Amino acid sequence: MVDIRFITDDEIPAFRAAISFGFGGDHVDEEGGEERFKELFPQETSIAAFDGERIVATFGSFDFDLTLPGGSAVPMAGTTIVTVHPTHRRQGILTTMMRMHLEQAIDRGQPMAGLWSSEPQIYGRFGFGPAADAHDLTIPTGPITLPEGPDDITVRFVEDDDLIDVLPAIYEQVRAETPGFLSRSESWWRLQRLYDPERRREGASSRRTVAAYRDKTPLGYATYRQKDKWQPDWLPAGTIEVMEIVHVDEGARRALWKYLTNIDLFPTVHWWNGPTDNPLYVEVDNGRHLKTINRDTLYVRILDVPKVLEARTYESDGSLVLGVTDDFLGQGGTFRLDITDGAGTCTETTDDPDITLDTADLGALILGRAAAIPRWRAGQINGSSESIHTLDRLLRTAKPPFCIEVF
Ligand SMILES: CC(C)(COP(=O)(O)OP(=O)(O)OC[C@H]1O[C@@H](n2cnc3c(N)ncnc32)[C@H](O)[C@@H]1OP(=O)(O)O)[C@@H](O)C(=O)NCCC(=O)NCCS
Repeated sequence: MVDIRFITDDEIPAFRAAISFGFGGDHVDEEGGEERFKELFPQETSIAAFDGERIVATFGSFDFDLTLPGGSAVPMAGTTIVTVHPTHRRQGILTTMMRMHLEQAIDRGQPMAGLWSSEPQIYGRFGFGPAADAHDLTIPTGPITLPEGPDDITVRFVEDDDLIDVLPAIYEQVRAETPGFLSRSESWWRLQRLYDPERRREGASSRRTVAAYRDKTPLGYATYRQKDKWQPDWLPAGTIEVMEIVHVDEGARRALWKYLTNIDLFPTVHWWNGPTDNPLYVEVDNGRHLKTINRDTLYVRILDVPKVLEARTYESDGSLVLGVTDDFLGQGGTFRLDITDGAGTCTETTDDPDITLDTADLGALILGRAAAIPRWRAGQINGSSESIHTLDRLLRTAKPPFCIEVF
């Protein structure tokens, strides 16, 4: 008989080992690891399944705020460390843990949950929809040219001691205007983003950080690793593995890309999680050499439909009645959304819906992604052509959502 429950403090060491095991790795108990875990995870949210003494499944949650279209941010349960050991799979353990997690998120006042999925087919049944895309971008720097950055911008390395003064301030400005960005606490910066142990490097260098300055003001930063490689004929074949590029100024962006694509011995630049609306695609002189793969990134699960529909803003006015199904958690219903001057009011109604869709479909649209019409054509969202085009016009945003934070 498997016992599924929230863990106690003394169970953290076994829990951490079970997470590594569940993802197919070996647990390395590095110094300070348990303290890091306790600081990053709200303790009351970690769930385990016990078969006798042995932990056979894990589940956890981070506390984030998720930026919505218009810039307001709502609390989001960051669903993570989801594992069920191979001996106990397909027995409903994930389903039970997910229900406990989402019910707890509602109790903790989080109107949304969000996750990065190891496989896209796992989480739709629980009401999660893919809410943001990213481009995995590879640039062979030899055959392309990018414009020079502005003369008044210089790119300089940021020393480790200065990182915390430079990076979060830029990130916060971008977060406030980018749907899909997540809040970063001081602990998150220190223990996650700026934490750079050997095991995270996968054979590449330690993290390098540069910032683009106008006078003394940093307007953007890039973090990256260098993966050194030589061809048998002694031609250099290294890769710059971009971790993040964040900027508040287009000149800073241009200067950072010019820098990254001009590092001697590193003729390839790769960013596995970049924005889909990167102006570089327009600026490059020979875009045929760029390789892009579209990826699903952040999945979100709406736990309080009116609250979330009222928290975001809209680029167009109108009204619709949405019939939202939620077989897993019963948080659905029929809701009238009225938008005036970009602000929405959302109330339950007994009117017939114009559109019927699942919570997961609403999750796929809520951050502004252009997904309504393809989902309607695929038969996943129902309604007249006119209603679907209204839904698309109301929910879609000119700036696509982007989630730079992997968790
Ligand atoms: C993904 C994982 C957690 C699923 O756990 P589980 O306890 O087997 O899931 P459940 O038994 O509750 O499955 C619920 C439903 O989801 C389906 N499902 C679960 N995992 C699936 C997968 N990887 N692919 C397709 N369907 C899946 C099940 O078939 C089941 O469907 P049914 O209700 O129609 O029978 C487990 O396979 C695992 O630990 N995988 C390796 C680690 C991993 O990928 N974790 C996810 C990190 S984001």
